[in-house]
Amino acid sequence: MSKPKVIVTRRWPEAVENHMKELFDVQLNENDVPMNADQLREAFQTADAVCPTVSDKIDVEVINVDNMKAKVIGNFGVGFNHIDLDAAKAKNLVVTNTPEVLTDCTADTAMTLMLMTARRAGEGERHVRNKEWTGWRPTHMMGTKVTGKKLGLIGFGRIAQAMAHKSHFGFGMKIYFYDPFPPSEEVINKYGAIQCDTVEEVLGQVDFVTLHCPGGGSNTNLINAERLAVMKDSAILINTARGDVVDEPALVEALKNGVIKAAGLDVFAKEPQVTEELLTMDNVVLLPHLGSATLDTRIAMGMRVVENLNAFFAGEPPRDRVV
Ligand code: DGY
Repeated sequence: MSKPKVIVTRRWPEAVENHMKELFDVQLNENDVPMNADQLREAFQTADAVCPTVSDKIDVEVINVDNMKAKVIGNFGVGFNHIDLDAAKAKNLVVTNTPEVLTDCTADTAMTLMLMTARRAGEGERHVRNKEWTGWRPTHMMGTKVTGKKLGLIGFGRIAQAMAHKSHFGFGMKIYFYDPFPPSEEVINKYGAIQCDTVEEVLGQVDFVTLHCPGGGSNTNLINAERLAVMKDSAILINTARGDVVDEPALVEALKNGVIKAAGLDVFAKEPQVTEELLTMDNVVLLPHLGSATLDTRIAMGMRVVENLNAFFAGEPPRDRVV
């Protein structure tokens, strides 16, 4: 029997690419140049499975291509707001993602940003590299204490729970959260977390806010000027979820006017573009969407795509089917 034809849109870790070569008739993207809409359309016309990632736009124009051959989208990434799920469903395309394997690394990145912003680590590092440091003094670069403070989580899924775990047990933080689909009482009690009825209720009483909800739909610009104004002026906002959850121009204004103290951002509304003003602000830490970027996790994500494809081609339900 011939092997299924699989097209991968970007470079994946070598171990996963080699594994895919054994299993599938795979077309890799060795020079890692993003595929344009025409190339993506062609991929859907020529492969049994297309494996995009979070930076590929798999919209209705791509999915509604004539002479579609593909039957499955094996997404490399847990988030799927870059894929038009309704269009995929209408075309009977199965879509899978890669949950769980990136939970800890993404929470670690949120923790990194929380500590960096609170303790002014980006600013301090620039200070040393620029040879501006004149020596220790009692009032130099005082930051915000993290241990024992209040952390508010918007969304309380897997990554938020990992963040709660690290923050509560590692840093003695008191956990508050908002999630329209909360986890079990058992999970909530594990972190001694306080469930709030609204986003505002969380924002108004915590020292740090970390975002862990999906992007797109009704979450677009969830953190807007009005909600930023509800936060304490000493509070810090961390986003490792999706850029569009935060109204970026409103955030710039809030940071400029002291509405909130600082922000740590791993994701941006128009990646890889970053709002110019953020680049010049010292109370902001900026990372290039590194949430899951460890070799272990990226291999695990790739292997999870392979597992999903294997199940699909064996006629079994893929473990991580989204639609
Ligand atoms: C995802 O998987 O959705 C992340 O944003 C990429 O790590």
